[in-house]
Amino acid sequence: MTDSTTEPGTETAKRGAFTSRRVFIFAAIGSAVGLGNIWRFPYVAYENGGGAFILPYLIALLTAGIPFLLLDYAIGHRYRGSAPLSFARLSRGAESLGWWQMGICFMIAVYYAAVVAWALRYTFFAVDKAWGTDPEGFFFGSFLQTGEAGVDTTLVPGVLWPLLVIWAVVALVMVLGVQKGIGRMALVFIPILLVAFLALVVQALFLPGAGAGLDALFTPDWGALLDPLVWAAAYGQIFISLSIGFGIMITYASYVDRKTDMSGSGMVVGLSNSGFELLAGIGVFAALGFMAGAATPPTAVNEVASDGIGLAFIAFPTIINEAPGGTLLGLLFFGSLVVAGITSLVSVIEVVISGVRDKFELTRVAASLWVLTPATLISLALFSTTSGIHVLDIVDYFVNRFGILLVAVVSMVVVGWVLMALPRLADHLNATGSVPVGTWWKVLIGGLAPIALTLVLGRELYVAITEPYGGYPGWMLVVFGWLPVVAMIVLAAGLALALPWRKDTPLTGYDDPARAGSDGAGEVR
Ligand code: ALA
Repeated sequence: MTDSTTEPGTETAKRGAFTSRRVFIFAAIGSAVGLGNIWRFPYVAYENGGGAFILPYLIALLTAGIPFLLLDYAIGHRYRGSAPLSFARLSRGAESLGWWQMGICFMIAVYYAAVVAWALRYTFFAVDKAWGTDPEGFFFGSFLQTGEAGVDTTLVPGVLWPLLVIWAVVALVMVLGVQKGIGRMALVFIPILLVAFLALVVQALFLPGAGAGLDALFTPDWGALLDPLVWAAAYGQIFISLSIGFGIMITYASYVDRKTDMSGSGMVVGLSNSGFELLAGIGVFAALGFMAGAATPPTAVNEVASDGIGLAFIAFPTIINEAPGGTLLGLLFFGSLVVAGITSLVSVIEVVISGVRDKFELTRVAASLWVLTPATLISLALFSTTSGIHVLDIVDYFVNRFGILLVAVVSMVVVGWVLMALPRLADHLNATGSVPVGTWWKVLIGGLAPIALTLVLGRELYVAITEPYGGYPGWMLVVFGWLPVVAMIVLAAGLALALPWRKDTPLTGYDDPARAGSDGAGEVR
């Protein structure tokens, strides 16, 4: 891996930049490896039959994940702006895609922070196993103080304070900026995360019964390959996990020197993320194998734990209670969740901050203030109350499907079919890239991936309408699910139409080959 130092180009210097390819790759891995890997992947794999899930997951990675990552990189790296600005430079009519992606990031950030806050609290609980002998009762009762499904404004101080701490850390990183904040944090946190997680997996593999857990994760279930919902889950997982489709990788790529090898970087980031995800799966399933064997009477691995949100916060404490060296296991697991979560959370919120900066020419501090104040307040209001977990469950379900997947399909169709931009984006990647981005990429992004995702989405829409999610009251699904995902689209279209770019924001010239290799088109700013 070579380090190409960023030139102090005028635009780059103003917007912020990663000082080297290494820092960019660390930051991108920091964004990709997050709650999606440690918290979401194991439970999605678990819900979808363990071994049945791995093959669709790998196919989704190769047919949609890595190709889409390269698409995001190409757009951000060529058009050198936040998501709205990059899309506006690609074509004025595409600008609303950037606002839509930015809105989705805002929605994700407010609930993502809450789960990181739970993990922070659980890192401390792990020291003396504060959850006692009934982790489930503790999680819903003593910790979250969960009430009936509905909206209850009673605050839960045990969630409120850690959530405030998380937002304070995010604010600090955001104010420090791209290199000093995001970049440096990734350089420190990613090695720590890797060491902690490897230690955790090794410890889990030595637990009695670990082999049964691994069997459950890796035994293929060919019949499940016919189940469209398993495929939907795999495609859904890959987008949140790789941080693709919702502006993050566009934004990060815009901070990278023009001569950087983006296709090679994409491979490193994509494979590192999935490597980490599989590692998380191995660690969690090994621990579930132990839990199944230790249960009285011994139980099958696929029946031992509740799935969904509870896998991390209920099953793991149960394992920690019983396992030799449980406290260490708990510190490693929940500590890793916090570290992985926070490096992702900053990337999600950076999308919003960079969009606001580009549009209104604000300083980083001012833009951070404008974005983080409402984000923190909404996050606290929705998720540190006794109804927080219900709202979180609904938002997570809707935003992943009808936010991320939908915007991903629309982006591929617009970029590939309407604007016919894939050849020029492929040329851009190939000009400096080490991995040839050829016909295979255009076929996947322009054909296979949007078709597969449309089928997945159609099926998800059918299920969401015919079997309303989670048994929640209809009005809750409307208010916290359907309404925000539709509002994001309407707002995005409105913003693109109503807010013109400032006169000194260059929107053209980015497709001029003479500018390749310099910070050229950014000179005006
Ligand atoms: N990619 C991040 C995650 O996996 C958002 O959680």
